[in-house]
Amino acid sequence: MEGLRWAFGCGFWQPTRHEWLLAARCVQAEERERIGAFVFARDAKAAMGGRLLIRKLIAERLKIPWNEIQLQRTTKGKPFLANPVFTTIPNFNFNISHHGDYTVLAAEPNLQVGVDVVKTDFPGSRSVAEFFRIMNRQFTGYEWNTIKMAGDEWAQLGMFYRHWALKESFIKAIGVGVGFNLQRIEFHTSPLHMQTGQVSKETIMFLDGDQEEAWTFEETILDDNHHVAVALGKPDMFGKYPAQVQENTNQEPPKFTLLSFKDLISSAIAMAPEDLTCWENFQIKQEKPSRQHQMSV
Ligand code: COA
Ligand code: MG
Repeated sequence: MEGLRWAFGCGFWQPTRHEWLLAARCVQAEERERIGAFVFARDAKAAMGGRLLIRKLIAERLKIPWNEIQLQRTTKGKPFLANPVFTTIPNFNFNISHHGDYTVLAAEPNLQVGVDVVKTDFPGSRSVAEFFRIMNRQFTGYEWNTIKMAGDEWAQLGMFYRHWALKESFIKAIGVGVGFNLQRIEFHTSPLHMQTGQVSKETIMFLDGDQEEAWTFEETILDDNHHVAVALGKPDMFGKYPAQVQENTNQEPPKFTLLSFKDLISSAIAMAPEDLTCWENFQIKQEKPSRQHQMSV
């Protein structure tokens, strides 16, 4: 299996009754409940997209029938496949992220993977300078310098969110969640200007002041204001495996493929009977908060 990158435009998806009811039947009960509890349709669609992406990945790549896939979460919330997998893929793992108009998934057969998508936006009622002040401790002096040298305010925000995605992708690859001291990691981004659709893997990371050779970062601009970072690391156990599972570093990094709702459910097998309350509950949700909420600090 090769590394895989998928994106779903959850923000552009206006589910029909049939689509939402079908989607709800194709996820585990506890996820159906979690998705139903979101206040805003935007968040419910993003989370639903994530679950469908994960199940599609496992059904199609690991050939586990959709309705037999058992997903669990680590104590820190990271989803993983609980089914025993007897394959030649020793470290099959995946991660998803949702923000703005996209839910994305990255999966790898051998490398440890974390993904983060971010939408660049102006910070609600605050000025950019004030927003940056509040976020001060998220980045190092070197990183703030790169952000503030990026150009006008919009360019600075773009660079801010690019760094954000990089940090999150690493945190998500190692699965730690909140509590990790973000000052320990520092990114030196390159190239400074990226082209939409191209995958760049020049950015390097320093951990506690030392360059981390074991980690690489793939960066993609999905569209004008969505940036994705994929962190790829050699798992601790990597050395135990023979040469055939080593990654080919000369390989072209995979590009994100945009999937439709039809693609998401093309391998789906319903796991529960239709429940009309799922639709009734969904269709009364407001799309998103009326005032743009800022990212939590
Ligand atoms: N590690 C990796 N992935 C995790 C995870 C963890 N500990 N916990 C959840 N996830 C997965 C889940 O699939 C989740 O989606 P789901 O709940 O719908 O299944 C998805 O990652 C959420 O990722 P994303 O959409 O990118 O959300 P986020 O950026 O708001 O959250 C976390 C990222 C999950 C790591 C969150 O715990 C967090 O707290 N991050 C903040 C850390 C921070 O300070 N960042 C600042 C960077 S500058
Ligand atoms: Mg995120």
